Amino acid sequence: MAMPYKPKNILITGAAGFIASHVANRIVKKYPDYKIVILDKLDYCSNLKNLLHISSSPNFKFVKGDIASADLVNFILVTENIDTVMHFAAQTHVDNSFGNSFEFTKNNIYGTHVLLEACRRITGQIKRFIHVSTDEVYGETDEDAVVGNHEASQLLPTNPYAATKAGAEMLVMAYGRSYGLPVITTRGNNVYGPNQFPEKLIPKFILLAMRGEPLPIHGDGSNVRSYLYCEDVAEAFEVILHRGEVGHVYNIGTKKERTVMNVAKDICKLFNLEADKAIKFVDNRPFNDQRYFLDNEKLKSLGWSERTHWEEGLRKTMECMTILDELLPMSIEMAKRNLRGIYNFTNPGVVSHNEILEMYKQYIDHSFKWTNFTLEEQAKVIIAPRSNNEMDASKLKKEFPELLSIKDSLIKHVFEPNRKVPAK
Ligand SMILES: NC(=O)c1ccc[n+]([C@@H]2O[C@H](COP(=O)([O-])OP(=O)(O)OC[C@H]3O[C@@H](n4cnc5c(N)ncnc54)[C@H](O)[C@@H]3O)[C@@H](O)[C@H]2O)c1
Repeated sequence: MAMPYKPKNILITGAAGFIASHVANRIVKKYPDYKIVILDKLDYCSNLKNLLHISSSPNFKFVKGDIASADLVNFILVTENIDTVMHFAAQTHVDNSFGNSFEFTKNNIYGTHVLLEACRRITGQIKRFIHVSTDEVYGETDEDAVVGNHEASQLLPTNPYAATKAGAEMLVMAYGRSYGLPVITTRGNNVYGPNQFPEKLIPKFILLAMRGEPLPIHGDGSNVRSYLYCEDVAEAFEVILHRGEVGHVYNIGTKKERTVMNVAKDICKLFNLEADKAIKFVDNRPFNDQRYFLDNEKLKSLGWSERTHWEEGLRKTMECMTILDELLPMSIEMAKRNLRGIYNFTNPGVVSHNEILEMYKQYIDHSFKWTNFTLEEQAKVIIAPRSNNEMDASKLKKEFPELLSIKDSLIKHVFEPNRKVPAK
């Protein structure tokens, strides 16, 4: 096997989003001698919280900006002496692509084109351009197919999102051929796990189940999907970065498949909900592929394999949900309702440290004990006097009467779903 590639300065696009945040977190922590520069325009689905653990690392830099801005991209490539690009940034939600598909063309095709053009202008500097594509470019797999799509299969996208991803791939391939840009393309199955924006199936269902709301299923729920846990996918990118061969395409996939109906049922199980009551059938999408089945042997031959069991991955996803998951959908709803002005954006009421500890004892560990600092001891640690102002959330509550008090929200969204001991 050839010597592994060793990057120096990596530009990762879209890493305030879901998958690339896991990739960035992994690489920044594991390879302190690599410099990681992130370029993300902080679109609605992104969150800087996804990069919190690495934000103060000396080998990490964040730039807010658009991949479609040629000047900015040129500037970063040159000033940061980038030798490796891992390109994740994209519009990713299939449902949105049935609405405003021009945004998909602009970000996914034109944005990729700008990046490629900037890379080919600094001839020889870029040693790897890893382009992140999707299984959806292959289009639908036959229900009875026993062999998955391999990397040389024809691209037959069926929805606007997949078409823009396939279009971007064509440009990547052409820049590889025309200018010798050292490109590698990946095509991945669905990914799930912490940091995923709740418009996607699994975090959406978990949030709805937490709130006791119905889980909507497009069509009859018989569509089959393959899911990989985000950490396994981050590991796949680590492997491809070091051992992937220039000019090649790698599927990042699993042979394990499950119907959307079974996903919903497994999430119901997690929350002790009766699936018959919790699941609601809604109109299907204009086109909803039945199945995406990948052959993953090529990636396995580089030494990668899937590690995380489905039940474990689901549990980890559920455990990362916080009360933000109550407030986040409200912020989206506020934008939809075109609300203006200033809102104190918080749950009403206050909760004391001792109440939190009481809840921990009640839900997580009955034997948990603690002792409070005396006032004198506190005075030694807390030098500056603190003001803990309660914010008046009545304006928000008027818009969203269902908004819970901070204590009830913590119980519902944090402690109840993570309960480790049975109720007394
Ligand atoms: N999520 C999946 O299941 C899945 C599966 C296979 C492939 N993919 C591919 O992986 C990549 C990442 O997907 P994700 O689910 O993590 O996405 P995401 O929607 O969670 O994040 C996308 C990120 O890209 C940023 N972005 C979008 N347009 C940009 C632009 N023009 N300039 C700068 N930043 C921009 C957004 O702000 C966001 O942070 C995408 O290319 C997607 O097609 C995703």
